[in-house]
Amino acid sequence: MKILVINGPNLNMLGIREPGIYGTERYETLCRLVLDHAARRGVEAELYQSNHEGDLVDKIQSAYGTADGIVINPGAYTHTSIALLDAVKAVGIPTVEVHISDVSAREDFRQISYIRAACVATISGRGLAGYTEAMDLLVERSRT
Ligand code: DQA
Repeated sequence: MKILVINGPNLNMLGIREPGIYGTERYETLCRLVLDHAARRGVEAELYQSNHEGDLVDKIQSAYGTADGIVINPGAYTHTSIALLDAVKAVGIPTVEVHISDVSAREDFRQISYIRAACVATISGRGLAGYTEAMDLLVERSRT
């Protein structure tokens, strides 16, 4: 099984950006966590981060025929991007939406998620653990 873990804008600034909200762990730590977890679960993981919406669309499209699951934290594009929603719908790959912070407890403009409609689950407010929980969910789903 191969899981593609995609992070959108500003998530490369983890550990630096608003640590009170997103924590003090760096993006590199998240990458290590994901790769170690994949090894433990006996699956392959690929990580990708971009600050550009079109690049994120390209990456989702590239998963067609090559990945069995997607974990995506679209960052602020969660709340604005119909293109990312359409891309996930287009590839038809089981996808889990992840947010490090609890978006439901934040500003009104964060209450809309376009991509959610195409996702099998949303994990929000669990910190970096949300990524490994999302991977577990995809692994369990593929084995049932
Ligand atoms: C985020 C929440 C978004 O509202 C925000 O724009 C982000 C990160 C999160 O992981 O909590 O960039 O997706």
